[in-house]
Amino acid sequence: MSLVPPPNKLLLAIESSCDETAAAVIDRGRRVLSNVVSTQHELHERFGGVVPEIASRAHLERILPVIDEALRKANATKADLGAIAVATHPGLVGSLLVGLTAAKTLALVLDIPLLAINHIEAHIYACRMAAGRDVFPAVGFVVSGGHSNLYDCRSPVEFQLLGSTTDDAAGEAFDKVAQILGLDYPGGPQIEKIAKLGNATAVDFPRPFLNDARLDFSFSGLKTAVLYAARGTPGARAQPLPLTPQRIADLAASFQAAVVDVLIGKCDQTLKQTGRKTLLVGGGVAANSLFRQRLAELAMRRKVELIIAEREHCTDNAAMGALGWELWERGWISPLDLDVKPGLVRKPAV
Ligand code: KG4
Ligand code: ZN
Repeated sequence: MSLVPPPNKLLLAIESSCDETAAAVIDRGRRVLSNVVSTQHELHERFGGVVPEIASRAHLERILPVIDEALRKANATKADLGAIAVATHPGLVGSLLVGLTAAKTLALVLDIPLLAINHIEAHIYACRMAAGRDVFPAVGFVVSGGHSNLYDCRSPVEFQLLGSTTDDAAGEAFDKVAQILGLDYPGGPQIEKIAKLGNATAVDFPRPFLNDARLDFSFSGLKTAVLYAARGTPGARAQPLPLTPQRIADLAASFQAAVVDVLIGKCDQTLKQTGRKTLLVGGGVAANSLFRQRLAELAMRRKVELIIAEREHCTDNAAMGALGWELWERGWISPLDLDVKPGLVRKPAV
């Protein structure tokens, strides 16, 4: 097995950490030759969130067809592959295991290196893909369904966690608030859509931790504030306003404004604290238009370069597993007895 990337070989990246089964083929120049994502939203929608057992069963059914399609779309065969990258942490244990088992099998049969990807760091690497060039050092911000993490990224593989959520992640808050308002899962896109019809100043929701020196987040209190605004505060005499379509739109817009204020405020603090001149933003919530617009304003004000992942690379995908090239080029190859690390978020800086 060649431990350094041989010329002309391709990387196959596999992603199955939550409810998307995905595979991508990427060349050495980080060019994405194919990017196949099979989303399971339709399976989880009626539960208002991801059901782990359903997710892992669906990954099992889809993983091989998704890999085959990625190869076909890239006009490649397994013989063209030089290494397999796979998201091994963090995520749902059963879901991660399906991707890792497929990746190990391919690596073993083809006798090529296996590369372990940190899913959150890959969300930031999606910004490197959007830029098409080296973008480090930078502040990295991952705002997804599972994480709201701020990093000082010294290089594509040296991340120091500076702040994270103490309870719900921002995307999770979007999903739960959507459920309270009777909107579909995943809630982020639904709230964004309906908020366009609402008044963002209708309800002055709390901006948790906004004036706190820490770089951490807390969104569960905000979620409860939306619940009380929608259904009434327990023990209070006053009845809540009826949940008309306009009221739902007003609550969605007011909630979105509160979350975005906090995300932008913490980003601002982090840029100030680190002095970094580049800001990288990825994860599902980075698809949100208001957030993108406010990030652009912040970058202008702070005179930093802003790189947001392309919309299709914000939500879970395997193209961001191009991070595998960075590992491969450094010879950071994983053994075949590698296991998943569902809860591991923080990787010690190297
Ligand atoms: O990165 P991702 O696909 O999965 C995780 O790694 O968690 O993020 C999914 C999250 C969901 O919570 C979803 O509601 C949120 O991203 N999301 C959005 C938008 N699109 C997806 N949140 C706000 N606005 C959006 N347009
Ligand atoms: Zn993700």
